[in-house]
Amino acid sequence: MKVLLVAGARPNFMKIASIVDAIHAHNRTAEPAIEYVLVHTGQHYDEKMSHSFFRDLGIPTPAVDLGVGSGSHAAQTAEIMKRFEPVVVKEQPDVVLVVGDVNSTIACTLVASKLEYPGGNRSGRLRPVLAHVEAGLRSGDRTMPEEINRILTDALSDLHFTTELGAQDLLMREGIAKQRIHFVGNTMVDTLLKHRHHAEQSGILAQLGLSKRAGKDGSQDGVVRSASPKARAYAVVTLHRPSNVDHPETFRGILEALTVISAQLPIIFPVHPRTQARIKEFGLGDRIAFADVGEGAPVGASGIRCIQPLGYLEFLCLTANATLVLTDSGGIQEETTVLGVPCVTLRENTERPVTISQGTNVLVGTKPPAIIDGGLKKIHNRGSHRIPELWDGHAGERIIRILSQYAA
Ligand code: UD1
Repeated sequence: MKVLLVAGARPNFMKIASIVDAIHAHNRTAEPAIEYVLVHTGQHYDEKMSHSFFRDLGIPTPAVDLGVGSGSHAAQTAEIMKRFEPVVVKEQPDVVLVVGDVNSTIACTLVASKLEYPGGNRSGRLRPVLAHVEAGLRSGDRTMPEEINRILTDALSDLHFTTELGAQDLLMREGIAKQRIHFVGNTMVDTLLKHRHHAEQSGILAQLGLSKRAGKDGSQDGVVRSASPKARAYAVVTLHRPSNVDHPETFRGILEALTVISAQLPIIFPVHPRTQARIKEFGLGDRIAFADVGEGAPVGASGIRCIQPLGYLEFLCLTANATLVLTDSGGIQEETTVLGVPCVTLRENTERPVTISQGTNVLVGTKPPAIIDGGLKKIHNRGSHRIPELWDGHAGERIIRILSQYAA
């Protein structure tokens, strides 16, 4: 069996890492071996948004880099499609596997779903099987580009690998046959659990003058143990959704709320390139101190300290030891649930409801009073949580087992 794996943007890389690991594990113990071709679309291309993830996670260099770069949704999607089609035609894989909900996911899905191999490929297959990892997530909000990508990718896929139990009903309501849906767990969690220990050795906390989270070494949950007299507890913020950062009033309001929270708990804010551009464009730099890791003073008792985006291991160490995370990311809602770190999501909805029903997540929207109220409550009352079913580090193995039976 030959599988073509698609990776395009930052949140894809940890999911693909788990699949690659599972293929290698399969090939060590089972026959026939699975051949794979890793394709990077180049949707994300910076050292910090892409290359460092391949290094940190030990993902092999992609066999193909489409190098599409940034653009409007239409331009980026079209460019990926144009460059991806000849790759599928040449490689004639048995399976095209896409992950997540980014533009690369839908672009490659559209291409693969319409292709035919004249006369069949070497296994006699007339077209590739399309497998979607992280199927069946819906925010219900069609103004989110990712929601459109999710709906269309699921509509076109042959195999749906889901991360939460509720996804099955949702997919069946959209007309997907039950036998095509497989609840396998969460590949992003596979990668987190694999690297968690190693990430703790990252020097990021020391570089920023921050402390490890209490409760991790058996001390009382929620009580902060300082590594040095000056080291301190902190919150982490990430923001990149267009709905939050592309509108000056919304973004300004969010920064005002964060400023209030940061008077009680200093905030570290690794800033996504889109968000950096908006801070400059809207003249919001007066609210925040921007200094690279290792530059400037250690984090003080209050205030928002902005830094460049971090690599995977550094960011995992930073979030695992945070007292609080405030975010608009989908993946971070899941990661904080596994880490048991309180998460306040600055959105009106989430496509990952299990992070609320079982995890540490709460939705507060984007209005300053609700952000302040939600943030301060979570600092003082961490609440309880459970790890969702099958978020156990073995999702990638389950996917490869099912694929090798289905496409054999
Ligand atoms: C994309 C995904 C989003 C995901 C996010 C994670 C879509 C529709 N959106 O959003 O679901 O949560 O990635 O980051 O696919 N840029 C760089 N360097 C890079 C990549 C981007 O500087 O390596 C800058 C460019 O100016 C670009 C902007 O960031 O225009 C936004 O990048 P883009 O890939 O369009 O969308 P994201 O906001 O990253």
